[in-house]
Amino acid sequence: MTTDAGDRLRTLLPQNAAERLQSLRLAEGRATLVLDATGLATSDRDAMEAAVKQALEGDAEVSEVRVAMMADKADEAAPVKSGPVQKIIAVGSGKGGVGKSTVATNLAVALARSGRKVGVVDADIYGPSQARLLGTEGQKPVAHDSRLVPVASQWGVPVLSMAHLSNPGQAIAWRGPMASGAVTQLLQGHWDDAEIIVVDLPPGTGDIQLTMLQKFKPAGAVIVSTPQDLALMDATRAVELFSKSGVPIIGVVENMAGYICPHCGEVSDPFGTGGAEAAAREMGTAFLGRIPLDIAIRRESDAGTPTAAGDGPQAEAFANLARSVADWVDSR
Ligand SMILES: Nc1ncnc2c1ncn2[C@@H]1O[C@H](COP(=O)(O)OP(=O)(O)OP(=O)(O)O)[C@@H](O)[C@H]1O
Ligand SMILES: [Mg+2]
Repeated sequence: MTTDAGDRLRTLLPQNAAERLQSLRLAEGRATLVLDATGLATSDRDAMEAAVKQALEGDAEVSEVRVAMMADKADEAAPVKSGPVQKIIAVGSGKGGVGKSTVATNLAVALARSGRKVGVVDADIYGPSQARLLGTEGQKPVAHDSRLVPVASQWGVPVLSMAHLSNPGQAIAWRGPMASGAVTQLLQGHWDDAEIIVVDLPPGTGDIQLTMLQKFKPAGAVIVSTPQDLALMDATRAVELFSKSGVPIIGVVENMAGYICPHCGEVSDPFGTGGAEAAAREMGTAFLGRIPLDIAIRRESDAGTPTAAGDGPQAEAFANLARSVADWVDSR
């Protein structure tokens, strides 16, 4: 394309589109434009695209117009544009079974107890657990304006999970893009009242995590690790994934740290102590505390009565975690 043709086409653009022009190419009669659509509602984008097409199609050298709208990621991330700005806190780990879901539930419940408006999104599409953990199994969310309304739980924490949308025991065998679409639906629910959305991530670094990080840029991430070396190595990987995606790490929680004997209450450390704290220090991230391995936590989780909603040292451990996370959110 000659500079002349480029300049001429530029002058044909409506002013609001010209201001947003990122690039313009003309090759074999096809004009390709990239516009910055940050902050535009869908209807405004459509109108701008139509106006651009109309303006350029009249040019003798142009036989086809293609318009690509690019939006700033953070801008698309806001689940509700006009409501209060929700902060997404992702709870992740490098490896499965370390207690992400348990920590996510109890963190949310502890935050709610401290007066925060908080919701939970279960991004584990293939193995959802939040309906069970929050005692909302069997409830079905309704949709308003084609967006899901979160399901209320007894703990003051509304929740959206695939478990609310699929039948119990039904295997979900969706491919990556569909699963990512499902996560998007859960995150774009009516979260208007929530100040913080705690997202329970599936383990690993697959499509779902990537969609999450790219589309709904979390404000920060909490990494859950167990004291074993292997889990710590995996935690390092999770830290790297978040860091690479530009998501700040709030810190590392050591879960199943020390075993509390259900009979005598004595604490033992079959996997050693301090490993996660040392690893957090090495990775330059904060250490957010320890949650002991306690059969009561498991029992309460299975019963849908989160430990953080009760009293006692374990509830206190989750309350401390919530305090650290809330302080971090407030400092942003
Ligand atoms: N501190 C704890 N004490 C006792 N049991 C725990 C503790 N944390 C988690 N558990 C139990 O360990 C199991 C795994 O926990 P959870 O489902 O939260 O892990 P996860 O990391 O979310 O797993 P997945 O990767 O499968 O999603 C559950 O049965 C849970 O009740
Ligand atoms: Mg889980």
